[in-house]
Amino acid sequence: MVATKCKPASQEQPVAVPVVAGLPMPDFRRIHVEPISGACGCEISGVDLREPLDEETLSEIMKAFEQFLVIVFRDQDLSPEQHKAFSRYFGPITELPQAPTYDGMRDMQEVRREADEPENVVPSFEHFHTDSPFLKRPPLCVVMRALEVPRYGGDTAFSNAYLVYEHLSDGLKALLDGLQVVYSGKEIWARNEKLPPEKRLRLREEHGFSEDELENIHPAVRVHPVTGRKALFATTAYFKGFVGWTEEESRALLDYLQSLAQHLHYHCRVKWRKNTLLVWDNRFLLHRGVHDFKYERRHLIRTTVMGERPIGPRDWPA
Ligand SMILES: [Fe+2]
Repeated sequence: MVATKCKPASQEQPVAVPVVAGLPMPDFRRIHVEPISGACGCEISGVDLREPLDEETLSEIMKAFEQFLVIVFRDQDLSPEQHKAFSRYFGPITELPQAPTYDGMRDMQEVRREADEPENVVPSFEHFHTDSPFLKRPPLCVVMRALEVPRYGGDTAFSNAYLVYEHLSDGLKALLDGLQVVYSGKEIWARNEKLPPEKRLRLREEHGFSEDELENIHPAVRVHPVTGRKALFATTAYFKGFVGWTEEESRALLDYLQSLAQHLHYHCRVKWRKNTLLVWDNRFLLHRGVHDFKYERRHLIRTTVMGERPIGPRDWPA
């Protein structure tokens, strides 16, 4: 009797490919990549961001950025010019109308909470959010570096919006695929003025944006312009409503979607140290600061890179 090496197909074992952030773990040769959780985020070591990057290293950093959505570098003591030069690998740096600027530079912002200030002073919002979705071309990413951080606490948490979408039922995906959201930043200054001084956000006082530039309609499901992967793009901050829905209906659906982003299995959390630098994808990842500290200063500085106009399932492939 001749022995056979082939097993029937039903007995084949699946090949064990490690999956992180919903995709197989890529190979890296030039940089060391350590995933932070199974959902998103990685730490990258072996790179000095003060220097221009060679093509291969840059391409691996971009690969890690696309897969993990937030990339973390430690001990990066960059000047503002070096910070901006690194940011430009991701695209053109843009101003923001509402975020306070850093050191008189219109193309850098700061997130600063003094030791004696209340936690609401920085616009980190109570919920996971995407930054400035009211702009026609909302930010692609944020490049943020820590100047001073509390000894304990003050982390930033992230939630992977691809995974939120991918875990929905086919029925809800089909509904959301056809929805559009009105996002508006027009009223934040007026609303802030009405609050008692101790409850006010620190906002930029002057900017060159027109009223029209502060409100836009975007798809509720955002599609990656190259890969076609879909993610939820509906969150509370600056949300005005779904197009064609009443305010009450819009809030009810939004509250449900916002609750999904809270699930821990979509998250990672980054602990800051002085000179930690993060780049996070503002299109497909939600974020929030965790203000669980008191009596200590937290000072982060950032650049914001302009993204493409969001495209939805009906626009893709173009
Ligand atoms: Fe934010």
